[in-house]
Amino acid sequence: MTDKLIIFDTTLRDGEQSPGASMTKDEKVRIARQLERLKVDVIEAGFAASSEGDFDAISAVSAAVKDSIVCSLARANENDITRASDALKAANAKRIHVFLATSPLHMEKKLRMTPDQVFEQAKKSIRFARNLAADIEFSPEDGYRSEVDFLCRVLEAVIAEGATTINVPDTVGYAVPELYGEFIHTLRTRIPNSDKAIWSVHCHNDLGMGVANSLAGVKIGGARQVECTINGLGERAGNTALEEIVMALRTRKDYFDLSVGIDATQIVPASKLVSQITGFVVQPNKAVVGANAFAHASGIHQDGVLKARDTYEIMRAEDVGWSANKIVLGKLSGRNAFKQRLQELGITVETEEELNDAFSRFKALADQKSEIFDEDIISITSGSASAEESEFYRFVSLSQHSETGKRPSSQVVFHMGGEKMTSEAEGNGPVDASLNAIEAMAKSGAEQLLYSVNAITSGTQSQGEVTVRLAKGGRIVNGVGTDPDIIAASAKAYLSALNKLHDPRQAKLNAQMAP
Ligand code: KIV
Ligand code: ZN
Repeated sequence: MTDKLIIFDTTLRDGEQSPGASMTKDEKVRIARQLERLKVDVIEAGFAASSEGDFDAISAVSAAVKDSIVCSLARANENDITRASDALKAANAKRIHVFLATSPLHMEKKLRMTPDQVFEQAKKSIRFARNLAADIEFSPEDGYRSEVDFLCRVLEAVIAEGATTINVPDTVGYAVPELYGEFIHTLRTRIPNSDKAIWSVHCHNDLGMGVANSLAGVKIGGARQVECTINGLGERAGNTALEEIVMALRTRKDYFDLSVGIDATQIVPASKLVSQITGFVVQPNKAVVGANAFAHASGIHQDGVLKARDTYEIMRAEDVGWSANKIVLGKLSGRNAFKQRLQELGITVETEEELNDAFSRFKALADQKSEIFDEDIISITSGSASAEESEFYRFVSLSQHSETGKRPSSQVVFHMGGEKMTSEAEGNGPVDASLNAIEAMAKSGAEQLLYSVNAITSGTQSQGEVTVRLAKGGRIVNGVGTDPDIIAASAKAYLSALNKLHDPRQAKLNAQMAP
């Protein structure tokens, strides 16, 4: 057994299954690039057969990523596996991840298949997949609630057919650490050819034990791959959080004695990027990446930390990529200084055109806001000009009036399908009036599920980051907008959500719901 733990990131697949967290192709590529800077071993970029949009996104991630293995999920059938393989064509290293449910409940109620049919289907699909790729992962969905004898039979057979990684999901977050660890251990000891595959854990967080279960799977069970997501993003209560796994292994190396290839200084930038793109705000007391994770408010703690850091700190904020809110650039900073700061932040701009575009956005922001922080630069560079040009809805400008005792009104100018629209409306407040003005023209009929505002940095001169979540026809999308003016940020967020609803390629099958 090796002492290296493989980090398999599924933010772009299982994380994206979280209602409202769906991402566009460009967003997936941006996150994938950051995951590569973080040096994750495997990036699960999506579920190719779930939609045209996801197929394209996996292809684009495959072309963009050079160092990490790129993976696509597939149900255990020839069509899905072929789609996965086709989407991964451009990848330097590709993995096909085939799954099929094995618990009595899922086989009977969801698949309506007998155990023998599931056994045959699993074997057949892995045999088929092995002709398309050398690196094949198999997941028995709801594996933890499966009968152990049957599971051993299926897993032995798929390893014999050539599966190189066996992943044991706790799909519904039912496990407890010791039992899950022992479950993995039992499978590994009872299956005669278990040493021919790498064993992997995949834990959901419904009882808040995703990370603990995964670590038990590693320590007690001997798993050497952990499947996880940035910020623990994922359906319901989410998946195992990557940052917590990595920092537990590093901080308690004395206990786990395993190495990970992750560059931990990229953790906080990754967390911020995922939060910004999905609109899923990180709770302040979240381990490692929460805003308060390294803040000492009590006098006793502050005194202790000033005398000797390790009195109250087991990790250093800078080791996971926290930087003090520094004013890095201002109105007079030139293109070279801007380019250098991008490099220092690990932000890649592929072409001169992209750099020019980012620099002009920086100049526009510096005209509105005298001090520019790292977080502002990250937000400026998180949207590309080409993405904007292809958008159906695009913000142009806004003016609004609000006065105590009077009903606020707003006029919004925006592009809709290439045509410039000017629309006016009233509302309960200036934000409501602005969104009403857009809706009066767009007529989406979407239901608003969430509106939230967050300050990118501290203080009232910070840029506001607004998330709007809309639902229509069974689809839920998030739109995010940033601007020093939160009314403008709100309009941008609403238009961004409308863009996602407008793109039919983004509608997709949910892996767990699929027959
Ligand atoms: O939770 C789960 O069972 C999954 C599988 C598709 C691996 O995400
Ligand atoms: Zn899952």
